[in-house]
Amino acid sequence: MSKTHLWWQAGVVYQIYPRSFQDSDGDGVGDLRGIIGRLDYLGWLGVDAIWISPIYTSPMADFGYDVADYTGVDPTFGTMGDFDALLEAAHARGLRVLLDLVPNHTSDEHPWFVEARASRQSAYRDWYIWRDPAPDGGPPNNWLSYFGGPAWSFDEATGQYYLHLFDPKQPDLNWRNPDVRAAIYDVMRFWLRKGVDGFRIDVIWMLIKHPDLPDNPPELTWTPDQKPHYRLKHVYDQHQPEVHEVIREIRAVANEFDERVLIGEIYMPVEDLVAYYGPQLDEVHLPFNFNLVTLKEWGAVAVREVVESYERALPDGGWPNWVLGNHDQPRIASRVGHPLARLAQMLLLTLRGTPTMYYGDEIGMEDVPIPPERVVDPEGLRSPGHGRDPERAPMQWDGELGAGFTTGEPWLPLADDYALRNMAAQRENPRSMLSLTRHLLELRRMAPALCVGDYASVDTGDHHVFAYLRTSGPQRLLVALNFGAVPAQLDLSAVGTRGTVAGCTYMDHSGPVELAALELRPHEGLVVALE
Ligand code: GLC
Repeated sequence: MSKTHLWWQAGVVYQIYPRSFQDSDGDGVGDLRGIIGRLDYLGWLGVDAIWISPIYTSPMADFGYDVADYTGVDPTFGTMGDFDALLEAAHARGLRVLLDLVPNHTSDEHPWFVEARASRQSAYRDWYIWRDPAPDGGPPNNWLSYFGGPAWSFDEATGQYYLHLFDPKQPDLNWRNPDVRAAIYDVMRFWLRKGVDGFRIDVIWMLIKHPDLPDNPPELTWTPDQKPHYRLKHVYDQHQPEVHEVIREIRAVANEFDERVLIGEIYMPVEDLVAYYGPQLDEVHLPFNFNLVTLKEWGAVAVREVVESYERALPDGGWPNWVLGNHDQPRIASRVGHPLARLAQMLLLTLRGTPTMYYGDEIGMEDVPIPPERVVDPEGLRSPGHGRDPERAPMQWDGELGAGFTTGEPWLPLADDYALRNMAAQRENPRSMLSLTRHLLELRRMAPALCVGDYASVDTGDHHVFAYLRTSGPQRLLVALNFGAVPAQLDLSAVGTRGTVAGCTYMDHSGPVELAALELRPHEGLVVALE
């Protein structure tokens, strides 16, 4: 790994959705001891850091994104002792650990909210966002919850509405109140002092709302197949100018410690996204770049445009990052199919910037269809058809009953194909998606050109093929990705004469190639080390 770059620049992050990764006690829900048991696997795979979705005390209305105690571990996941053991075991293997900070809202069962709703005079009242009813008794404005329905719920006892951009059980904190800020900063310090290597920060671009809470304007292009909250443009409930000052404060807390990283969850077009690096690179280290997650048409021209527009928009010194999937989005294999998912994996692991992988994508897991009676995601319950359970199905470790995930009844259904598509089977198969992923991770680790080198697009003359060069000193690697279902024959003699195949999405090709006549099979991607 590079000595000139920080660990989070040269490394690869792996997201664990803890409920679904590994159960150790047979209750059908993953836990911290389960993760400890899989650290050797993650080391073998070759990732550098894990980000664990929330493990804090929670009534689980949004499966941990509704926090009732920011410095406690939910018994579903284990104990603080288990967490300390996980941190120690991960660090002993050279793996960094990132937690998920959820500062926008708490659970309605958090003592702060319990106090706040006790009376209008409560010292905690202003920690949340309360408003009187509109003259007709309805909500104070037209804002919609991301999960469906209004973003306001009425509190009978005190006669006011409280704001919740997500579930009614997730009241939004009032980040204009300095006491709220101080409390969350202390939460950060609690975990950073323990040795946590940083945070992924939940919906960071929503922390501050417009002070007047004006109605959001209608989105005239909305169609009924889209999520209901898109009926309105999110003009006043997110991405407010004052949020940047708050993020700079959050960064200053992280800066009290060495080499920690902040990754901000921000869904936004690149032009706006890059503002979250901060004017002096003093906001989040990595504003999550979801432009490959939201990309609808996967083709060479579209992907090249995503990559180049991002590269153009990045501020000087702003470190890039790439993502293909997470616990809120349909899985890449289901979005694009398996051949292209392999190509996408090569793309993710050879682009410039820090990749974040989602558990299970390394074996090509698909979204698992969830029968209506087993839907548990609050978004799926409030906006039927838009739930996120399918991408949260248990990890497929082996072909045994329970897929090696649990000895009990899994909290979400296992994929039908787990007996065939699983880690153990793919580990034995040198051409599997898992073998490809591991090989690409190894290549990335060994080649400075890939992990920290420069990027330049290469014209291929074929609209199905996207190609680029990654370079570091004398090392030059060419990546050529054929998004087409037809073979491609390219003349890339402009970048060199000869090279050696160092990676191939089909895992069956190595050896020399002539760049004047470079052949790619349908959906094939190659990494070629140039002479
Ligand atoms: C983020 C999380 C999502 C959660 C929401 C509310 O988008 O990734 O899972 O439901 O925030 O916390």
